[in-house]
Amino acid sequence: MEIRPMRSWIHHRRGEVLRQGGVGRSAMPGVYEDMLTRHGFEGRDAYLYRRHESTAWKRAEGAGIHLDLDGRLLEPTDLTDAGGNPLRLFYNPDGAVSVSRRSANMTYSARNADGDELYFVHKGTGTFYTEFGPIPYEPGDYVLLPKGVTYRIRPTGPDNYFMIIETTEELGFADIGPHGRRAPFDPGLLYVPSPELDDLGDGRNQDGEWPVRVKYQGGFTTAYYDFDPIDAIGWSGDLFPFKLNIRDFRPITSDRIHIMPSGHAVFATSTVVVGNYLPRPLESAPDAEPFPPIHRNMDYDEFLFTHAGTALGVPMPPASFALTPRGLHHGLPAKVEEELRKGIKPGTVADFEFIFVDWAHSLVATPEALAQKRAGDQLREGVAAQ
Ligand SMILES: [Fe+2]
Repeated sequence: MEIRPMRSWIHHRRGEVLRQGGVGRSAMPGVYEDMLTRHGFEGRDAYLYRRHESTAWKRAEGAGIHLDLDGRLLEPTDLTDAGGNPLRLFYNPDGAVSVSRRSANMTYSARNADGDELYFVHKGTGTFYTEFGPIPYEPGDYVLLPKGVTYRIRPTGPDNYFMIIETTEELGFADIGPHGRRAPFDPGLLYVPSPELDDLGDGRNQDGEWPVRVKYQGGFTTAYYDFDPIDAIGWSGDLFPFKLNIRDFRPITSDRIHIMPSGHAVFATSTVVVGNYLPRPLESAPDAEPFPPIHRNMDYDEFLFTHAGTALGVPMPPASFALTPRGLHHGLPAKVEEELRKGIKPGTVADFEFIFVDWAHSLVATPEALAQKRAGDQLREGVAAQ
């Protein structure tokens, strides 16, 4: 999102259309609104008004089909081995999505030379013991470890669950527009660590050495030390790890118009956008639409992680991973939308907590990820359809 396409004010209308795109769909009964977009939801777009629901295909075949994984069944080697690694699920040249379920203090220090690492803490508490100082973690934390930072994870208990987003390009904050410097969060709330060496003696292998496992070209290069490599007593500069909790992120909302996903972005490179859909009152003005139309987001593969909450009271399995490749349509089925809409009153709050990652280049799923593919199609059944 560093490079913003220029907004086009040239809009043509042909045939039967709503007076305003995305507003008052009930004015065209029996017609389905369908959005074709470029550059996420920031580029040129067209709303089409159709006689049929574009998601209602009878059969779909090929690689570009929605994928839904049960993340609770994933077992990275770090779940049972303190010297183990996270499990990679999806990747492309711009980065990857992995899962870590680390259950004990690491017997090595980690460093990534391939890219930045953004840990999202789904479950567990503990500490990222970094060379810049310790960063305590809890559910809902984003912990950003820039490329090259050396760290070890020290969980408080055995039950931890991290989603790791890796980007080869430097990950910065997304600029989501003129909402003021303290919206959607106050940058002063970033937790920035101070050196605090405790000489706990962890981070050693069975031979008593301190290995530093450097992720390099997709593999690992390891350097072995006779002293703890996390030994800085001070640091200064503008490159450092930090954390931010989603509870401090206050979504930009509107009662009259649905804010598109780009309005919920948090981090970005030029090809990857990370954001969150967090609890917020749904649009409730009489002609406002609380849900996006069926759409094709043609310049991004959409990835979604379910952290917590419900889909307006409908339980959702936590730690679910969904990948929606560009090309085929997706969105809430009209019947589900109609049912949900009945329950929406002014002030109705959607309590879901999703983390999304949009990828400009298509993602490849690993065999380990595909092994946990759910039967059925959650998206077409009405779950996670942002
Ligand atoms: Fe979407």
